[in-house]
Amino acid sequence: MIIMVPALVILLGAAMILQAEFLPDEKLLLLPPVNFTIKVTGLAQVLLHWEPNPDQKPRNVNLEYRVKINAPQEDDYETRNTKSKCVTILHRGFSASVQTILWRGPSLLASSWVSAELKAPPGSPGTSIVNLTCTTNTVADNYTHLRPYQVSLHCTWLVGKDAPEDTQYFLYYRYGSWTEECQEYSKDTLKRNIACWFPRTFIQGKGRDWLAVHVNGSSKHAAIKPFDQLFALHAIGNDEQKPLTRWFLIVLMATICFLLLMSSLLCRMCHLWTKLFPPVPAPKSNIQEFFITTNYEKAGSTETETEVISYVEEPGFETLEDSVF
Ligand SMILES: *[C@@H]1O[C@H](CO)[C@@H](O)[C@H](O)[C@H]1NC(C)=O
Ligand SMILES: *[C@@H]1O[C@H](CO)[C@@H](O)[C@H](O)[C@H]1NC(C)=O
Ligand SMILES: *[C@@H]1O[C@H](CO)[C@@H](O)[C@H](O)[C@H]1NC(C)=O
Ligand SMILES: *[C@@H]1O[C@H](CO)[C@@H](O)[C@H](O)[C@H]1NC(C)=O
Repeated sequence: MIIMVPALVILLGAAMILQAEFLPDEKLLLLPPVNFTIKVTGLAQVLLHWEPNPDQKPRNVNLEYRVKINAPQEDDYETRNTKSKCVTILHRGFSASVQTILWRGPSLLASSWVSAELKAPPGSPGTSIVNLTCTTNTVADNYTHLRPYQVSLHCTWLVGKDAPEDTQYFLYYRYGSWTEECQEYSKDTLKRNIACWFPRTFIQGKGRDWLAVHVNGSSKHAAIKPFDQLFALHAIGNDEQKPLTRWFLIVLMATICFLLLMSSLLCRMCHLWTKLFPPVPAPKSNIQEFFITTNYEKAGSTETETEVISYVEEPGFETLEDSVF
């Protein structure tokens, strides 16, 4: 121990000197990342990717990045990675910026920003669907499938007010890495799709992923603007609570049974203990007399044993009587 303390001090000192050597110079100039790209990787999902600036010196400092989402909704966060996934609606376009940052104690060094954007998809105004609402419904499965329940999805919408009469709409949903196109549409009098029903989906009732819904369309007379919407499943589907609650109850019951069993076993052991080793008499006890009664019921037998243990305090000493009827 006495030898170890100086050794530790030396190690600590060496670590501090090493760190001092690697500490960035006061005039360290941070350079922005290069090759920043935004790629659509799924419905309502993009991947931002960039590379550290190859001219950045020194190279051994702990660089981080700050990502700022400018549209469709402002957001910003920091990361050590050089890529980042974003789940977001894309029908109004998407734009983001990234900069190199370095924390030095409480102060922050930052480079200039680099930006990239995705243009909004083309389409005439007023042609996209409006008032999209979706509901999910969870039903217990009959165990012919892998999951104990199935989630269906039903969406309805209104035709865009300036959509030509020959407009046809198509609905897709994405959940995690699964994307499906609707196969069962309901139509209005002009045979335009205005609702969709998926009897089965890849949606997991208890999942935390966003449900992304994308509705695009086509017409001979105009480009139809697509429409995206994200749904938080806890906000639309709560039936999936049921199997969970059932499991919770089963676990709770099992725990209670276990505890009861343990406590009864403990009681039996204590009981045996008092029988084998009678308690040392307490001279000033004012308990005159007490009984412990235990009933045993044997399965398949009508016989009932009653065990009575009685302590009777007598002047000077205590006796233990154990009688079985
Ligand atoms: C950036 O992209 C260019 C062109 O694709 C490529 O030549 C270059 O190596 C990339 N730079 C880095 C640091 O990846
Ligand atoms: C559609 O939604 C808008 C608001 O987003 C609302 O004002 C309008 O009443 C809705 N239309 C119908 C037919 O529900
Ligand atoms: C179980 O579900 C499948 C598919 O939904 C259905 O074809 C089958 O008849 C069901 N079986 C029972 C016993 O309900
Ligand atoms: C609609 O979106 C789906 C999924 O992104 C795409 O495969 C399809 O080509 C699009 N259809 C039209 C008419 O834009």
